[in-house]
Amino acid sequence: KRKVTTHHLAEMKQNGEKISMLTSYDFTTAGIVDRAGMDIILVGDSASNVMAGNSTTLPITIEEMIYHGKCVARATKRALVVLDMPFGSYQAGADTGVASAIRMMKETGVDSVKLEGGEEIIDTVRRIIGAGVPVMGHLGLMPQSINKYGTYGLRAKDNEEAEKLIKDAHLLEEAGCFALVLEKIPAELAEKVSKELSIPVIGIGAGGGVDGQVLVIQDMLGMNNDFKPKFLRRYANLEETMTNALQGYITDVKSGDFPNEGEQY
Ligand code: KIV
Ligand code: NA
Repeated sequence: KRKVTTHHLAEMKQNGEKISMLTSYDFTTAGIVDRAGMDIILVGDSASNVMAGNSTTLPITIEEMIYHGKCVARATKRALVVLDMPFGSYQAGADTGVASAIRMMKETGVDSVKLEGGEEIIDTVRRIIGAGVPVMGHLGLMPQSINKYGTYGLRAKDNEEAEKLIKDAHLLEEAGCFALVLEKIPAELAEKVSKELSIPVIGIGAGGGVDGQVLVIQDMLGMNNDFKPKFLRRYANLEETMTNALQGYITDVKSGDFPNEGEQY
């Protein structure tokens, strides 16, 4: 099992092989995801929501992201690991951005970082790549800017926002990003961007015309069934599976069935 590199991902795009990407935040889960054969594991700042219970990604800290990054990096042998730079760790300027990226690489053992934004952060992206850190871009719905948008609805519906997104995508490619995430934009626009760029474009709620797909693991495994956007496909109902197991345990503890003769010393 060879280690996936940014060069392999570029080859996959050239060969028309779709790229699989999924989030993980802890050692046990990341090991399962890696052994399943995922190409990219994203340690997303969605950890703020699904691990910590916040309603946005804004409160998660660089220390918390480093903790999740370390846990995932320890578990991952094959997949390329991407660590999200959290809100506040790069928006104040290129100097703090590059310092944050270096710290996140040094302290975790991940392979790359991801930042949200285009033109506004392009100098920061260039500086981070210049420091030798591979960068994945992220455009479309950018949850760290939720207070600017006011909604998690579809982005780039109008021409002005679509034109800016296309321009930003080219800027990120020119700056040297190895891949780009497009979140919650019309499929037609995402396909156009994917065709115009030579770097892989990974979509979430961006249709099938891109070079790969990413989802949040808790969402696709059915662990938070109240979250049901149109783009989400569920591959399991782990809430149901876990609830059945947990209730079985409660029943057995209450009845005295667990532990039995063979389960004690
Ligand atoms: O944090 C995250 O999980 C993400 C994906 C949704 C792309 O950025
Ligand atoms: Na994210």
